[in-house]
Amino acid sequence: MQKELIEKLFLTGNLTDEELKQLIENRTDEDFALLSKTARQRCGEEYGNKVYMRGLIEFSSYCKNDCLYCGLRRSNKNAERYRLSAEEIMNCCENGYKLGFRTFVLQGGEDNYYSDDLFCEIISAIKEKFPDAAVTLSLGERSYDSFKRLFEAGADRYLLRHETADSEHYGKLHPKELSLENRMNCLNQLKEIGYQTGCGFMVGSPFQTADCIVKDLRFIKDFQPQMVGIGPFIPHKDTPFKEEKAGTLELTLFLLSIIRLLLPKVLLPSTTALGTINPTGREQGIKAGANVVMPNLSPVGVRKKYSLYDNKICTGEEAAECLECLRRRVKAAGGELVAHRGDSKIAINNK
Ligand code: SAM
Ligand code: SF4
Ligand code: FES
Repeated sequence: MQKELIEKLFLTGNLTDEELKQLIENRTDEDFALLSKTARQRCGEEYGNKVYMRGLIEFSSYCKNDCLYCGLRRSNKNAERYRLSAEEIMNCCENGYKLGFRTFVLQGGEDNYYSDDLFCEIISAIKEKFPDAAVTLSLGERSYDSFKRLFEAGADRYLLRHETADSEHYGKLHPKELSLENRMNCLNQLKEIGYQTGCGFMVGSPFQTADCIVKDLRFIKDFQPQMVGIGPFIPHKDTPFKEEKAGTLELTLFLLSIIRLLLPKVLLPSTTALGTINPTGREQGIKAGANVVMPNLSPVGVRKKYSLYDNKICTGEEAAECLECLRRRVKAAGGELVAHRGDSKIAINNK
């Protein structure tokens, strides 16, 4: 029965909600072997064995929000806070560009210090200096006008994980001032403006059920994002979820393969969180159908301070070291790390 579901998913790119739930709840190692082989094949048909690299610049550890799972939450008084100046961000890009990066991802807490004007200035400066590079933003929730201004300044892509598509579950992960409705509105606006848009969720977050995951997968299939970011939830010692269990490698890999089959053309990262819960997590992610890696370009001096969860890897290594390490890892997984922009093959609004 499971084998038939996997075959149906491969042939049609879809399953009903009941079938998805069954596939997930009854999964065995044997199922995963077939599913991941199938997902890898599908990924190969679309992208060959290419794995795209994105340079991550974690520009601020200040955050006005209080998501219960995140070490950067405003209530965490033990968090060490820092901000990178426009010049420091440009230096990261310069270093990254020399190493071959053609996508820069600006990610940070929701930090009001960075006005729209300042972000526009930073984005325009990057695009002017490196016209063949893409700029991806991961700045959290903003207004329609702000998203639009940043897009007009030259930003190409936006990552905003929906975190969970179940509003009750959303309420258990976030303080009451944050809502799934607003998160979803933001995602729709980003798409409408013309960004290559990414959603996603944490695997094994507290209170997540198989029904929540089915809702996440259904949302992903319907929304047709260009990118999907999933990684295991990992507890942080200074958050209310410090005693909660981390998500597993096994379920994350299983879901990566399902997402590859639901959206064959999607850009799907093998995340740092996956590499944190298992030493070969990122390699296994690639084997399961992922085709993006996001090494860190942030200055080594601030890396430990961008502490979303405990024991995050790559906090002591220079960008060049991580890149070489990842090149070896991608190769070991049968992939080839490529330097170019790696735009999505999924149609984008307005373009
Ligand atoms: N502030 C922006 C936002 O929330 O969209 C961007 C930065 S936020 C740190 C990026 C992602 O980190 C979140 O979307 C969340 O899924 C992930 N994250 C936060 N805490 C985590 C944890 N404890 N374990 C795994 N992932 C986590
Ligand atoms: Fe802030 Fe993003 Fe962390 Fe939430 S997940 S506390 S918005 S950095
Ligand atoms: Fe950073 Fe291996 S990727 S040290």
